[in-house]
Parts: sequence; structure tokens; C-alpha cells
Amino acid sequence: MHAATAYAHPNIALVKYWGKSNDDLNVPATPSLALTLGDLRTTTRIEAAASEVVVVDGHQVRDAKIERWLERLRGAFNLPPLRIESSSDFPANSGLASSASGFAALTLAISSAFDLDLSLQEQCEWARFGSGSAARSLHGGFVALESEGDVCRASQILDENEWNLAIAVAITSDSVKSTGSTAGMTASRETSPFYDGWLRATIEAFDLGLVAVKNKDFDALAKIAEASCRQMHALMLSTEPALIYWNAATLNCIDAVTRMRKDGINVFYTIDAGSHVKAVCEADVVTRVSEQLSRVDGVHSVIGSGIGGPAQIKDSSSPGKVSDD
Ligand code: DP6
Repeated sequence: MHAATAYAHPNIALVKYWGKSNDDLNVPATPSLALTLGDLRTTTRIEAAASEVVVVDGHQVRDAKIERWLERLRGAFNLPPLRIESSSDFPANSGLASSASGFAALTLAISSAFDLDLSLQEQCEWARFGSGSAARSLHGGFVALESEGDVCRASQILDENEWNLAIAVAITSDSVKSTGSTAGMTASRETSPFYDGWLRATIEAFDLGLVAVKNKDFDALAKIAEASCRQMHALMLSTEPALIYWNAATLNCIDAVTRMRKDGINVFYTIDAGSHVKAVCEADVVTRVSEQLSRVDGVHSVIGSGIGGPAQIKDSSSPGKVSDD
């Protein structure tokens, strides 16, 4: 065993995942399609310790999701108690996919520290047990996640250099989301009258989204991604009790992005389980889009990002996977 550090980028879903077919194995009920945010990252360091300690963004925490995940991992591998230190350079638990980058970095760091010799597909599966969306953060660029029975496969559709898009993330709140994704998904499945329709629409959107990404068809992707976003939030709104993640600034940003597109700027919006708005655009207009979003009422700040690469090992003691940028 050697200490190891890995980092991974969060990803944003263009065709959303909201609902599981198997809660215990954390299997998404529908396929999803996402892109990786290169300028945001979670870095995780692993070392053996006398007793287990988990430190997230400088605070020691007890995290039920991480504990369950480690228990499952220990069912397959003999691991000592660990010191896990993880930090993100962006706001956590607010709909910016910190659990996706977190479980991706954690899986890669543990796999390297203990020489578990996991293939990329196996890493994706372990990351997915922690958080469905985390399987997508091990790859860079545009990534699809599909399941067959209880087995999932994350695959790269385009790498980070194949389509020159960028993302402006409008931060619209400094609070943590009220309901986490896992609990929210269960509530939607159990209470929303629209759940079955959502699954059907998402399966269709995924097929169309794949074609749009492969063809680098911005207009088609804009339509599919905005519709998937609005359909997911409609499902959330129809859940009992209602899951309302948007705030006034979220709506203002949707309006601003819609107006920009009418003015001929290639940009579309998407929003995950939080109030922040991600505006996906062609890279040459990201400064303009960011400036316009930063002037929107209620927007605290805007983070610009290019498309990111795969999760990486930072620890130079792990030969063959060295990368530190
Ligand atoms: C709205 O992957 O966080 O971001 O598997 O329960 O951990 P769990 O959920 P998670 O959910 C992501 C939900 C989403 C949409 C998406 O990323 O596809």
C-alpha cells in the first residue's frame, strides 16, 4: 500500500438521470449523457490509518454514503482503516456534482493506493455504487452511462478535444440543497404521477442526444438538453413533498440564456439538483455568455470552464498513470 492522490472533474448531465431501477445496487433506471467540467475538480488523498477518518473540505465528517460504499468495497477487497481527505475547488452539495467527482476521485485513489488493478470499466462500476453520476466522471469529454440489468457501462462518446464547447456556471445561491439526489429520486419514483412518462421520455432523449453529440449538432443538443432539464424539474415539482431546487435567479438565468440564443449566440441551459445554472456554449462565446449571466439579477458569480479530461492519479509514486497539471 502507498498513499495516493487522485482528482476528478464534476460532470453535468445533458440527458438527466433521476430514478433508480435497483436502490441497493444503485442502478440508474435510464441511460444518461453528460459532459465533464475541466476547470472544476475534486482532489482526494488516501492513506492507511489507525482508525478511519474522512475529511471533506477541511472538516472531519461522518458520511453515510461513503461509509456504505467502503463497506461494500471491503466485501470485495481487504482494506485497512483509511484516512480519506477530499477537497473540491467549487461549492459542494449544491447541484454542482461534487459527489460525482468525489466518488470518481475516491475510487481511483483507492484503486491506485492498494494496486487493486481495476479496469476503467470496473472503476466506473465502483464509482457508480457510490453515486450514479460518478461513473461518468472517470472519463473526460462527453460520456454516456447505460445499464443492462444491474450492470452499467460508462463510455466516452467524444473526448474533451473533439468539440470545442465551454460552460459558464452561474452561481445563484450559497446554500446547500435541501434534499439530496438519492432521497429525492426515491421520493419521485414513489409519489410522482409523471414518473413512468419521465422514464419513457428520457430513454428517447438519450438516443437523440447520442446522435446530436456524435454529429456535434449544437441546435439539436440544445433542444434535447433543455427539454431533459425541464422534464426532470417538472418531475421534481410533481413529487410529494415537492422538490423545488430553483430560485428566482435560476429563472432569470433561463430567461437570459433564452434571449441570448434568440440573439444568435449558441448557448443552452441545464440545471441539476440545485439552483445554479450551467450555460453550455461554443467556446468562443463563453466570455460573452459569462458577462451577460453575471449581470443577471440574483447571480452571485459565474465560473467559466472548458470541457475536462478523465480522472487522474496525481501521485508520482504510481507509475504509468502520472499526471499533475
Ligand atoms: C440531477 O448521481 O448524485 O445531477 O446515484 O443517488 O448518488 P445518486 O445520485 P446522483 O444524481 C445525479 C442527479 C442529477 C442528474 C444527473 O447528473 O444525471
